[in-house]
Amino acid sequence: MEKKLLGFIGIGNMGGALARAAAAGIEPGQIVLANRTQERAEALAQELGCLAASAEDTARCARFLFLGVKPHAMGDLMRQIVPILRARHDRFVLVSMAAGVPIARIRQLANGDYPVVRICPNTPVSIGRGLVTWCAEGARQEEMAELMDAMAGAGLWDECREELMDAASVVGGCVPAFTFLFLEALADGGVRCGLSREQALTYAAAAVEGAAALALRGEEHPGALKDAVCSPGGSTIVGVNELENRAFRAAAMNAVAAAWKRTAELGR
Ligand SMILES: NC(=O)c1ccc[n+]([C@@H]2O[C@H](COP(=O)([O-])OP(=O)(O)OC[C@H]3O[C@@H](n4cnc5c(N)ncnc54)[C@H](OP(=O)(O)O)[C@@H]3O)[C@@H](O)[C@H]2O)c1
Repeated sequence: MEKKLLGFIGIGNMGGALARAAAAGIEPGQIVLANRTQERAEALAQELGCLAASAEDTARCARFLFLGVKPHAMGDLMRQIVPILRARHDRFVLVSMAAGVPIARIRQLANGDYPVVRICPNTPVSIGRGLVTWCAEGARQEEMAELMDAMAGAGLWDECREELMDAASVVGGCVPAFTFLFLEALADGGVRCGLSREQALTYAAAAVEGAAALALRGEEHPGALKDAVCSPGGSTIVGVNELENRAFRAAAMNAVAAAWKRTAELGR
């Protein structure tokens, strides 16, 4: 197979979402997909107009090789492809998305000090509204520029020191799940008050999206933005009081801290 710009081995939730983001930004013929259950790679390749291949062929031809398996499966995958990587004479970059797994460990598993980019994406990358935090060792500046350009369809890319990647992976990667939980509960509340399920979910999601957009402007502290919604003696402050009674903020902080601890455990 001729050389391709991007190869993805493991196209589950995250690898698949990144492949979709890639296909939105570059010529799909430059993307090759591999997966343990190969029919899945073939189905996604057909949908995106790119190629499906074995993990070995993908490892042989991709300039940027995305490793999209679970952290505990990384050892087996690397054993499978190391002989192919060793036989390559051209330059290539490994891109690992394995939560909690340091670059040094990837290089150890790869049995070579290849350039490695460690990324932490979140699932909104599949619609171009994601966050990808990254750190790299051995990758040249122009390679990073090329990678981010090819993957611009994923959303915002932000460089992060490696020692902070676990924290970034929680606040960027786990928060969508926490938010979906919050959204579901808000929609339940709306239904409890008489809205249809569809109305309740749409209104809650639109409000969360708008609130996040305001916070992202960075002009005002979230506390000030909250204050602006709370009229004295009004309904919002009564709801805020109820959340505070249930230790909402402590629950959110503890969720982040617990997920951060678990990320470190899983990466070991
Ligand atoms: N999900 C997230 O929000 C998120 C966020 C940040 C980082 N990550 C990271 O992304 C990685 C993947 O997570 P995920 O949630 O996408 O997991 P997933 O949905 O289980 O996907 C893993 C994929 O890898 C495939 N696979 C396993 N071993 C393979 C092998 N030897 N060769 C080829 N394909 C193989 C699996 O194939 P089958 O179809 O046969 O099962 C599956 O499609 C993890 O390292 C995780 O830490 C995920």
